Amino acid sequence: MTSPVRVRYISCRTHRDVARAIRDMSIRGAPAIGCAAAFGMALAAKERPFKRSKDLTVQLEKARLCLGATRPTAVNLFWALERMARVYKNPKILNLPMALEQEALAIHTEDRASCHAIGDAGARLLPKKAVVLTHCNAGALATAGYGTAVGVIRSAHRQGKIKRVYVDETRPYLQGARLTAWELDQEGIPYEILTDNMAGHILKTEKLDAIIVGADRIAANGDTANKIGTYSLAILAQYHGVPFYVAAPFSTVDRATPTGAAIPIEERSVEEVVKFRGFSIAPKGAQARHPAFDVTPAKLITAIITERGVFSPRRLLR
Ligand code: MRU
Repeated sequence: MTSPVRVRYISCRTHRDVARAIRDMSIRGAPAIGCAAAFGMALAAKERPFKRSKDLTVQLEKARLCLGATRPTAVNLFWALERMARVYKNPKILNLPMALEQEALAIHTEDRASCHAIGDAGARLLPKKAVVLTHCNAGALATAGYGTAVGVIRSAHRQGKIKRVYVDETRPYLQGARLTAWELDQEGIPYEILTDNMAGHILKTEKLDAIIVGADRIAANGDTANKIGTYSLAILAQYHGVPFYVAAPFSTVDRATPTGAAIPIEERSVEEVVKFRGFSIAPKGAQARHPAFDVTPAKLITAIITERGVFSPRRLLR
């Protein structure tokens, strides 16, 4: 777990610990949630000694429901749980705890590799001395490592291509200011934080080469759910003629969801809007809303950068 001043690791010993960590956002970011849920299933298989494999399957189904009930929008969670279910439903597998651990490790390893491939594919799209803007945190802390949108920035930085990164602070949870800025700091990548309402002015008055964001779920038609505020950025990008890139692994693509309208949007506590670290920033009893994600229509997305290459959103599933 990170804050701008402290790095602390949390030990999860049971699938319930993992579910709690996802729900309270100690683990957040779509690919990281998927990886964690997979390890939660591997832990569930070891929590009690079972005499009969039928009992273990019942326990695993309960664990799957518990982990699946944590956060609704990031499809990587359900993708990873489905992969783990294919393992424990396979009657040919005798040592389920070991097989589940191996599958979780494979999901983790594959996600890291995907991030590096996304980073390299995305870096090719950027010019020299690039000025880019990113929203929320789609970095190492949101994935198995390296990051998706931040992975693109890291790869481009290694090629000497990054002049500056604008980091949206990302109200109300401040993933940009707290996490992305911290990650860029660690990497020595030059950045400046913007409050979210500054993006329009910056796009109007300065030359930006790209906006790069992550994704929590990409519908079959390319509509993309990501952190609240992404949609407004995409509209600004189109108005100002700035390429708008989504960087995500294929585990974020949800073939079963035809369009963005069917993506479930998490509504979080309004406390996160009216308070900051327990301190009220609005009148007592103030009403507020807190949709945690929004959906950017495919037509506003220039390209989706994946581990399999760069696609126009409409061609992603062809
Ligand atoms: O609510 P969060 O912090 O889990 O939201 C995270 C995002 O919206 C990220 O941009 C997305 O999950 C992509 S992470 C590679």
